[in-house]
Amino acid sequence: MILAALFFVPLGCVQKRLVTNTRGGYYNGMVVCAYPDAAKVGIDILKKGGNAVDAAVAVQFALAVSYPDAGNIGGGGFMVYRSKTGETNTLDFREKGPAGASANMYLDAAGNVIPNMSLYTHKASGVPGSVDGMVQAHQKYGKIKWADLVQPAIDLARNGFKITKPFAYELNHLKAQIEKLNPGKTYLIKDAEWHEGDILVQEDLAKTLEQIRDKGREGFYDGIVADQIVAEIKTGDGLISKADLQNYHSVWRKAVIGNYKGYKIITMPPPSSGGIALLQLLQSVEKYPLKRWGYNQDSTVRLIVEAERRVYADRSKYFGDPDFYKVPVDSLLKPAYISSRMSNFSWDAATPSSSIQPGTFAGYESDQTTHYSIVDHEGNAVSITTTLNDSYGSKIFVKGAGFLLNNEMDDFSSKPGVPNMYGLVGGKANSIQPGKRMLSSMTPTIVEKDGKLFMVVGTPGGSTIITSVFQTIINVIEFGQDMQQAVASKRFHHQWLPDEIAAEKGALDSLTTIKLQSKGYKINNRRGIGRVDAILKTTQGYQGGADPRGDDTKLGY
Ligand code: GLY
Repeated sequence: MILAALFFVPLGCVQKRLVTNTRGGYYNGMVVCAYPDAAKVGIDILKKGGNAVDAAVAVQFALAVSYPDAGNIGGGGFMVYRSKTGETNTLDFREKGPAGASANMYLDAAGNVIPNMSLYTHKASGVPGSVDGMVQAHQKYGKIKWADLVQPAIDLARNGFKITKPFAYELNHLKAQIEKLNPGKTYLIKDAEWHEGDILVQEDLAKTLEQIRDKGREGFYDGIVADQIVAEIKTGDGLISKADLQNYHSVWRKAVIGNYKGYKIITMPPPSSGGIALLQLLQSVEKYPLKRWGYNQDSTVRLIVEAERRVYADRSKYFGDPDFYKVPVDSLLKPAYISSRMSNFSWDAATPSSSIQPGTFAGYESDQTTHYSIVDHEGNAVSITTTLNDSYGSKIFVKGAGFLLNNEMDDFSSKPGVPNMYGLVGGKANSIQPGKRMLSSMTPTIVEKDGKLFMVVGTPGGSTIITSVFQTIINVIEFGQDMQQAVASKRFHHQWLPDEIAAEKGALDSLTTIKLQSKGYKINNRRGIGRVDAILKTTQGYQGGADPRGDDTKLGY
């Protein structure tokens, strides 16, 4: 029966249908992001004729409603863009230190870092950049009316949406902390437990989004919403002022571009460390036969770990906001420099991190940021990573406005050599200064092959972002994995300090583990590393990779 039916269908159609069904190939466009409702908003914009930037703007606002964990209007992020003709650009809408910020603002009289002050207080927030970023992106590349891009998020906030099981679990888990930090407020809180399928309605957030819909940038950085932000900040003796909000502007920056075995890697420049670190990692391993060694086999892991150790040591010293500190981009990417960094790597034993550069360490756990990848019917591509820093940021809501403040100030170096929440250390390059952007690891990236779009990729994960993007790229290029496999594959990570390999359960088989341990590598198993959302362009259409570690969703058409 089936054969007979296929026989009468024109061959081209048969091939296209079969490919679509078996490989998930889509020919017109695709959205991959952290939450199903936001993915639906994005794909609907693409189907209405919007381009990738239109869809990205709509997804950003929809995530601010449906994924308050990291989707935001109170945070910031980075966009990497590649047009259908290969033009590249990046937008930096990273938060900035308020004018009242100062180098020692998180230190006590004895010069010690005050625990949690840069994380869960009104002083923890940088000046938010997301709304200005979306306005800028839309003005430069958007086709669809601004209001039509914000409206779906308003509808989600006002009408509510069904929450997933992990979302319900998270809200129940965070209840005590949200209540403590938001006395008298009820955002995301209810008396009974949350359950899968419950409807979450956010009326205050809907009203804030209406201001943004109707007034654009001014709807957030001026007027009632700005007043609400400043009033909230004052209740906790925080720093963000009306002037800080009005002075915030995102910045277009030239992409950093590198090559890996003929693939062109288009990625984010400082104030992200991610792009340069990614290129350093790729260069460090390029001359070795990873493909022959195999996915996560001991030689592969050892080489990658040794490269990561050296790159993260560089990160602690040389990276900061380029508007305040001259990041030595060219020197860091010189082939001779990369070779010299790898020259003391030995197959005999692990290189102790203390011999690369001294430092100290404290625990790192949270990894909440979010990434989305979009391609449209013309072939324009957008890769955006956006964040409040910690999961639900500072966990402090702006009263009356219904959104969360970021705690991005923790991404600055509060004190040289003292690690932040991700265990990352820094110094002068990333010291706190008014108007300066804090260093990030976010690595939104687009890969080209033979002058054509190849991959759109990125992930949350704090310090693990860079290594997760790196592993996803080599999973495809070296190990021949398809996009979904490359995203789902188990990951490992080394960041110089602490001197250990963080590995997801199952990332390293027992033989590899024994071999690594015998050479002096310490392995620490940890929960999921990263949540990569990516798109691969194949001859059989777009293939999505939605990370199974979360509610991540891929929709194509
Ligand atoms: N807040 C995490 C990062 O920007 O790297």
